[in-house]
Amino acid sequence: MNTSQNLFFFLLLSFYTLTIVIGQDETGFVSSINPKLLTKKVAASHFRFYWQDIVGGENATSIPIIQPLPKFNNSFSAFGLVRIIDNPLTLTPNLTSKLLGRAQGFYAATSQTELDFLMVQNFALFEGKYNGSTITISGRNVANDKVRELPVIGGSGVFRFAKGYAEARTISFDFITGDTVVEYNVYVTHHK
Ligand SMILES: *[C@@H]1O[C@H](CO)[C@@H](O)[C@H](O)[C@H]1NC(C)=O
Ligand SMILES: *[C@@H]1O[C@H](CO)[C@@H](O)[C@H](O)[C@H]1NC(C)=O
Ligand SMILES: *[C@@H]1O[C@H](CO)[C@@H](O)[C@H](O)[C@H]1NC(C)=O
Ligand SMILES: *[C@@H]1O[C@H](CO)[C@@H](O)[C@H](O)[C@H]1NC(C)=O
Repeated sequence: MNTSQNLFFFLLLSFYTLTIVIGQDETGFVSSINPKLLTKKVAASHFRFYWQDIVGGENATSIPIIQPLPKFNNSFSAFGLVRIIDNPLTLTPNLTSKLLGRAQGFYAATSQTELDFLMVQNFALFEGKYNGSTITISGRNVANDKVRELPVIGGSGVFRFAKGYAEARTISFDFITGDTVVEYNVYVTHHK
């Protein structure tokens, strides 16, 4: 390389560096945060509550918004069914026990052969320092399995940067009303 080539590459490199630096400053698109925000004062807790899927009656909290695909309408899998939920989270399996929060979101039947749901829900909690904070769950729920594990994918408020998982166990299913009670044990990190 001769001097003029060197100069050319130097200028080219400078130009790219300048562009990248200016690009950052101009857009403000991304900047670093203190990584301690992720680990500072982190605690982990186990929450247990009962998820009340009330599908019938005037006070239903779980409403079908999309019916199963016609081909699956009479099949056990109900493939395509989507229900939107605003389900009570209670202290005991008894619906009249203390209301600790609500599970808001939807679940969708996503298997053509068995009763599997994609669960997408926010657990909005009402108690004490958790009041107003949410735990976000997204995962697979094979309804016939004794225990289903669903990832906690994040949260808000004290659950900012949350990590964890939930275990779901069906406690009761009412064959007349179709109502279901599911015990949720949620193991999750949160701010102190
Ligand atoms: C529905 O809720 C109302 C108000 O809480 C209550 O009075 C009524 O008994 C409930 N109906 C049923 C079927 O549970
Ligand atoms: C599926 O079945 C339900 C109840 O039997 C009925 O209300 C609904 O209209 C049916 N949907 C389709 C797409 O056939
Ligand atoms: C649920 O709680 C109510 C009020 O405490 C009580 O009357 C009822 O018997 C309980 N139901 C069951 C199934 O334990
Ligand atoms: C939770 O917060 C709301 C809104 O700030 C408030 O109205 C409610 O009383 C609180 N609930 C509890 C159980 O502290």
